[in-house]
Amino acid sequence: MNAKSTPTTGTQADPATGSPVRESQNVSNAMWGGRFSQAPDTLMEAINVSIGFDQKLYAQDIVGSIAHCKMLVEQEILDSAAGEQIIEGLKKIRVEIEEGTFEFKNALEDIHLNIEGRLTEIIGDDAGRLHTARSRNDQVATDFKLWVRDTIDAIDEALNVLQTTLIDQAEKNAAVVMPGFTHLQAAQPVTVGHHLLAYVEMLGRDRGRFQDARTRLNESPLGSAALAGTSFAIDRDQTAKELGFDRPTANSLDAVSDRDFALEFLSAATITSLHLSRLGEEIVVWCSAQFSFAKLSDAFTTGSSIMPQKRNPDAAELVRGKSGRVVGALIGLITVMKGLPLAYSKDMQEDKEPVFDASESLGVCIAAMTGMVNDIEFNIDRLKDAAGEGFTTATDLADWLVRVAGLPFRKAHHVTGELVRLAETSNRNLDELTLDEMQSVESQITDDVFSVLGVAESVSSRTSYGGTAPDNVLAQVKSARERFL
Ligand code: ARG
Repeated sequence: MNAKSTPTTGTQADPATGSPVRESQNVSNAMWGGRFSQAPDTLMEAINVSIGFDQKLYAQDIVGSIAHCKMLVEQEILDSAAGEQIIEGLKKIRVEIEEGTFEFKNALEDIHLNIEGRLTEIIGDDAGRLHTARSRNDQVATDFKLWVRDTIDAIDEALNVLQTTLIDQAEKNAAVVMPGFTHLQAAQPVTVGHHLLAYVEMLGRDRGRFQDARTRLNESPLGSAALAGTSFAIDRDQTAKELGFDRPTANSLDAVSDRDFALEFLSAATITSLHLSRLGEEIVVWCSAQFSFAKLSDAFTTGSSIMPQKRNPDAAELVRGKSGRVVGALIGLITVMKGLPLAYSKDMQEDKEPVFDASESLGVCIAAMTGMVNDIEFNIDRLKDAAGEGFTTATDLADWLVRVAGLPFRKAHHVTGELVRLAETSNRNLDELTLDEMQSVESQITDDVFSVLGVAESVSSRTSYGGTAPDNVLAQVKSARERFL
């Protein structure tokens, strides 16, 4: 491929195939080509074009343009006949796009110029009046903010449904015991309800982060024009209000070069995907034959073409895997924005694909996770057995020694350690030791100790606020419904 591109001839190699491409026509871009005498080089079009992805912004672009047009008419910058024609034309274009009859053109670069180009075809030269007191720089910032805002609202709704599903399962499994782990080593028995509610809390914070981002993004860039504002007597409060923004942005340079809102969106999306990824990982582990803690429905499992016994938790794995894409999107856009001088630079056109990709990935992950959580069946007997494996009530024994026998906790810890060793060497559980054996280690132990060594007793005793006791879980189910749903 000939890398020495001159912006004039168009006799370059096709960037995809490497084969020569035909010369561009010798006509400059109709939208901005006033001072240009030649068409852009083919490679220029290839690197510059964004219509393939920014057509996603069509609805926001059209409402933004309608708001701008109405304001121009009210401020008597545009006469009302032209204004009406423009608005009619824009509505027609919306229908064409939604019906799939609109022809997107690479030569018109992006969604803004494609819509304006079509508007010109429909209503003639008056279409060109719409761009008075506006630039693509404030236009794209406005469109993109509106798109991110809509997406935040959709994600919030989806997370609400996932929380609802988790809370329902938590209620159902409030008293079901399972091993709680630290270092993925059996630690203390917990309840399944408690475990699921942990994710409800995470998702609640995630929703809070999206809401924070939404609040901060909700200022209208429209009317900042290219970078310096405009000499026309526009009313930015009006367009802000019309588009549901709280107020116009206060600084035009900032308004056209700020992509914090996209970064905040991606940060919130990243943390949410990490939470989903952790739950995905737990589901993968729980559904393995070795753990057998839970079973996913057929709807969220796949078989193997060669190993008939397999039920693979692909959906959970993909939730885990797709978090990588979301993290990548955040890092990608952070890297694009780093070091850009004020105000707008074309680098910023690279802001959209990561955001689109991350929201699509997050959306499908939330939906798939909701389906999995809704369908998952916990293996109650297996969970109960596992909850008792690995001396998980050792802490209960130590606590008993403190509470009933009055030992200092450090001493109680030491005594319990000796009893664990005794049980381990004889291949038994703690509650299978005899009272005599226990008393040989610590004489103050009585029969009462056996009342704390069962897993059900263990979880029931954890009644401190935020603890795992079934009664707490039921109270937290109620509280979570009040706080989040
Ligand atoms: N497609 C462009 C983008 O997404 C629109 C803004 C173009 N502005 C400009 N000065 N060339 O960033």
